[in-house]
Amino acid sequence: MLVVCSVHPPILVFFSISLSWTAARCLQEPLSAPNHRDVSQAQQTKSSVFYNPDCEESRNSSSTSSALSNSTFRSEIVNGLRHVDVNLDARLLPNSDPQGIWVSYKCCLFCLLSTLPSLPTILLRIYGSSSGSLISRSHELHTLHVLSSRYHIGPRIYGTFSNGRIEEYFDSVTLGPSDLRDENITRWIGSRMAELHSVEITAIEGPLSVRSLEGKSWEIGVKKNVRTWLPVARKVLAHPNVDMSERSVLNLDAFLEGWVRYLRWLSQVEKVEGFSRRVFAHNDTQYGNLLRLTGKLAEGTPEHRQLVVVDFEYASPNPLAFDIANHFHEWTADYHSSTPHLLDFSRYPTPQQRRNFYQAYLSHTHTLQETSTTDVAGEARLAKLDRQVRVWSPASHGMWAIWGIVQAKDDVEKSLAGTAAEFDYLGYAKYRMQRFFHEIAELGV
Ligand SMILES: *[C@@H]1O[C@H](CO)[C@@H](O)[C@H](O)[C@H]1NC(C)=O
Ligand SMILES: *[C@@H]1O[C@H](CO)[C@@H](O)[C@H](O)[C@H]1NC(C)=O
Ligand SMILES: *[C@@H]1O[C@H](CO)[C@@H](O)[C@H](O)[C@H]1NC(C)=O
Ligand SMILES: *[C@@H]1O[C@H](CO)[C@@H](O)[C@H](O)[C@H]1NC(C)=O
Repeated sequence: MLVVCSVHPPILVFFSISLSWTAARCLQEPLSAPNHRDVSQAQQTKSSVFYNPDCEESRNSSSTSSALSNSTFRSEIVNGLRHVDVNLDARLLPNSDPQGIWVSYKCCLFCLLSTLPSLPTILLRIYGSSSGSLISRSHELHTLHVLSSRYHIGPRIYGTFSNGRIEEYFDSVTLGPSDLRDENITRWIGSRMAELHSVEITAIEGPLSVRSLEGKSWEIGVKKNVRTWLPVARKVLAHPNVDMSERSVLNLDAFLEGWVRYLRWLSQVEKVEGFSRRVFAHNDTQYGNLLRLTGKLAEGTPEHRQLVVVDFEYASPNPLAFDIANHFHEWTADYHSSTPHLLDFSRYPTPQQRRNFYQAYLSHTHTLQETSTTDVAGEARLAKLDRQVRVWSPASHGMWAIWGIVQAKDDVEKSLAGTAAEFDYLGYAKYRMQRFFHEIAELGV
């Protein structure tokens, strides 16, 4: 059982931890755009070992085999996961076979080629050098481990090493933008989301943060994000490469004023109408994070389990309505179009499509298993959920607007914004901010 793969495009890899190594699959994860992860570009590979001609040590072939034998790696258990303290150096060599991926460990160079079909495939992830600064790896690993081992949600983690991990590989395709509107898939997503939301927050976050959650999760989550990102966003917009018209559209003082007003209004609404339950939320359920398994499901497996949710790096405690509202905005996105930053509000789910989602969601929500529900009670529950989604909807726009400005930093500095940039973060921020104001006005804030 072995491995392969990558995080950032030029960095592709192979690895052989104390598992025996053989088949591998390669996965490219394009970076940049908020949501551009395309897991479907997987290639099948077979590995073979080469020696690095530039490396003195590698001339002695026995040093290669000793590097591969398990005695070289001392594995220990860290947070319930097998961990080996090695760093892998990954590289895509120029002029190499496009089907092949080269990686080096110590002085051995590995090349992975075509397929060995009989062996199970696992996924090797090498972290990009910068990605660790944005997300907490240990928290992400803990989350993945608990979700997969206790709740059967997401990929299993088989082991970790200093700059990456080995995880379960799913034979699957990534959903595309139009899949979300397929009525069956809508229901499966609703069911999957309800399952995730039934995970006990304490299992992931520990008892401490739950205490701090009570009544205050709002401060902790979204408000904290906006507060901490706002100064960064201001700096980005102050850059001389940002022109006046852009600055006046992305008016952060006006935003802050509206945001504070909205927060106050929201806390009042929740007091009167009831809190949206705080759950363990995915927080980024865009179509690229939803896989559909291509193999046959085991007998008796519920249909919706053919969807697998991945990428939990942003998962955190949040109101359930926020997670759903955020997902509905993803219906309006097409990250594969020529203008991936432009969301198209006409694609927002209709009342009937939302209803379809809510019905699946509610039927998989454990805490709502009340005794026989009348139609009237059922309707009231649907209406209440829709209302909660609506009041939380601007929070998603506000947060992603500020996120977009922060992400635009590099493009602004290189004077790429809006034109040559792969993803127009400022354009994205403008749309999100405009929708934020539009929606709070609609809500009468
Ligand atoms: C090759 O490696 C082995 C084991 O590491 C060592 O015993 C041997 O001396 C090496 N041979 C040469 C020519 O360096
Ligand atoms: C790996 O370790 C196990 C037990 O420690 C041992 O039985 C096995 O022979 C080792 N394999 C190699 C390739 O050294
Ligand atoms: C949804 O699933 C049902 C039952 O499995 C099937 O008959 C129907 O064709 C599916 N609808 C779509 C749009 O695929
Ligand atoms: C949701 O996702 C963003 C990034 O997309 C993350 O930074 C943030 O912490 C998450 N928000 C909340 C409220 O958890």
